[in-house]
Amino acid sequence: MVSPEVARAVEILRAGGLVAFPTETVYGLGADASNADALRRLYRVKARPSDHPVIVHVGSSAALDDWTLDISRSARSLAAEWWPGPLTLVLRAGPRVSRVATGGLETVGIRMPSHPMARELLDGFAGGIAAPSANRFGRVSPTTAAAVRADLGDDIDLLLDGGPCVVGLESTIVDCTAEVPRVLRPGAITAEDIESVLGVAPAIGGAIRAPGTLASHYAPDARVELVAADALGPRVRECDRVGVRIGVLALAADLGPENPRINGVTLATMATVEEYANGLYSALRKADQLGMDLVLAVPPSPDGIGTAVIDRLRRAAGGR
Ligand code: TXA
Ligand code: MG
Repeated sequence: MVSPEVARAVEILRAGGLVAFPTETVYGLGADASNADALRRLYRVKARPSDHPVIVHVGSSAALDDWTLDISRSARSLAAEWWPGPLTLVLRAGPRVSRVATGGLETVGIRMPSHPMARELLDGFAGGIAAPSANRFGRVSPTTAAAVRADLGDDIDLLLDGGPCVVGLESTIVDCTAEVPRVLRPGAITAEDIESVLGVAPAIGGAIRAPGTLASHYAPDARVELVAADALGPRVRECDRVGVRIGVLALAADLGPENPRINGVTLATMATVEEYANGLYSALRKADQLGMDLVLAVPPSPDGIGTAVIDRLRRAAGGR
């Protein structure tokens, strides 16, 4: 049974409209992946350059065969292991994918999300939903419906509220078109996870130009600066001296309980790296709401989703 709200979303998508919806990673802004006009409007609303491809979301693993070609054994193994979940596979695009969605490329990023509302929407629509993160281009991805509303407002036809996203960072993207799969964007599913399924380590990073891989992306208005844990105290005092309004982002263990001044400016309370990932984007938004000039971020160690947190922090810092 499809809820009345999701049924309305399906109608809007069929008519070429735009629907923002929750996934387990971040909120997406969806359009019919086969409708070139709907996709052009999607790019306009996001202010996204037309050569930057978007991800096509599907409702089952079997849909891989409907949308992509030359599906490698590794791609099938990765989908079997992690779909539905925060993993995007890049494969050769089939004819059903509008080339507006691929930014003119002959490959497509495809994923099956696990959020129950996303699955209900995909089941009801029974097609592919092209969806970038539901924010204006270059900005911080939304992890709540309120963040989508604040960023995109009335430019979309419907916003489905499925609560806060449980992962909070965008999906891991793996290019499966080459002999050895390549991680183009780190996420909750790590290179080690991928190696454990494939038996070989994936390549890391890539030449493919994708917006999530630009040096400056996922950025708030406040400047973001990465600081080592032991340099945090001195850096906070220096900012205080010159009157720079700061917010601090760090794991509780890196804050130092003896320093009440630092605890007074923390943007989020985070005990684990999973909480860091989950709270990162809302903390960056909060920094802007509070009118902060600078966010001092102590990166977590590069274990598990820590690699993805560090990647997003570096991009929020604009490569600085
Ligand atoms: O978790 C996610 O992936 C979220 C949710 C909504 O699913 N979506 C998301 O979309 O982050 P977006 O558009 O903000 O980022 C999609 C990334 C971009 O970096 C894009 O360039 C890359 O996927 N991508 C899409 N198709 C590609 C392709 N054919 N080759 C290389 N990269 C591709
Ligand atoms: Mg995005």
